[in-house]
Amino acid sequence: MKKVKLGVLVSGRGSNLQAIIDNIESGSLSAELAVVISDQADAYSLERAKKHNISAVHVSAKDYTGKRDGYDALLVKELQKHNVELVVLAGFMRIITPTLLKAFPNRVMNIHPALLPAFPGLHVQKTALEHGAKFSGCTVHFVDEGMDTGPIIIQAVVPVLDNDTEDSLSARILKQEHKIYSRAIQLYAEGKLKVEGRRVLVTGGKTAGDEFLINP
Ligand code: GAR
Repeated sequence: MKKVKLGVLVSGRGSNLQAIIDNIESGSLSAELAVVISDQADAYSLERAKKHNISAVHVSAKDYTGKRDGYDALLVKELQKHNVELVVLAGFMRIITPTLLKAFPNRVMNIHPALLPAFPGLHVQKTALEHGAKFSGCTVHFVDEGMDTGPIIIQAVVPVLDNDTEDSLSARILKQEHKIYSRAIQLYAEGKLKVEGRRVLVTGGKTAGDEFLINP
């Protein structure tokens, strides 16, 4: 099977990146990591990439305050240099502009630690907890010009428990993030994702059932 060439954009510790690396190395994900790009020089993600002999590049945003398009043009150049087919945002804490989206139409994915459209933005595990939600989870979606608004590819649901803290809920969600991101990329690699308006249909996906979740 053809391997899809990934460019992963990161800002921090990179546990999602690590899960992708591990799934590629174990053969469960038909992908190749062409490049990992960080906007932060000291991101641990860059170390993770280097340990696996993956090109790891720091693209500084220092001279691009208020010039997000200019910064994204740099990213596009770097991604194209590595012949990237699919751009994967994995804890990349910057807003993407049309400059990047136009270069990779329907080819930029993001993971978000909540069940979108609930709780977009930042610190969302804390917000879900404070709101009293009984379920939360994570979402992989294609990126559009809005903030966490693009067509949803896959979601995983976790319960919110009475004794949860922001940390315990984040950890429960993160465990699922590590599974669903690779699954979404694999579906893409297999050519099974079809975007119809806001909906992403999956070839050979589940048919009607009566599944449900109740918590508590
Ligand atoms: C993950 O929880 C990811 O969902 C979140 O940042 C964390 C990165 O962790 N992304 C966002 O909140 C994007 N809005 P990681 O660096 O260990 O993969």
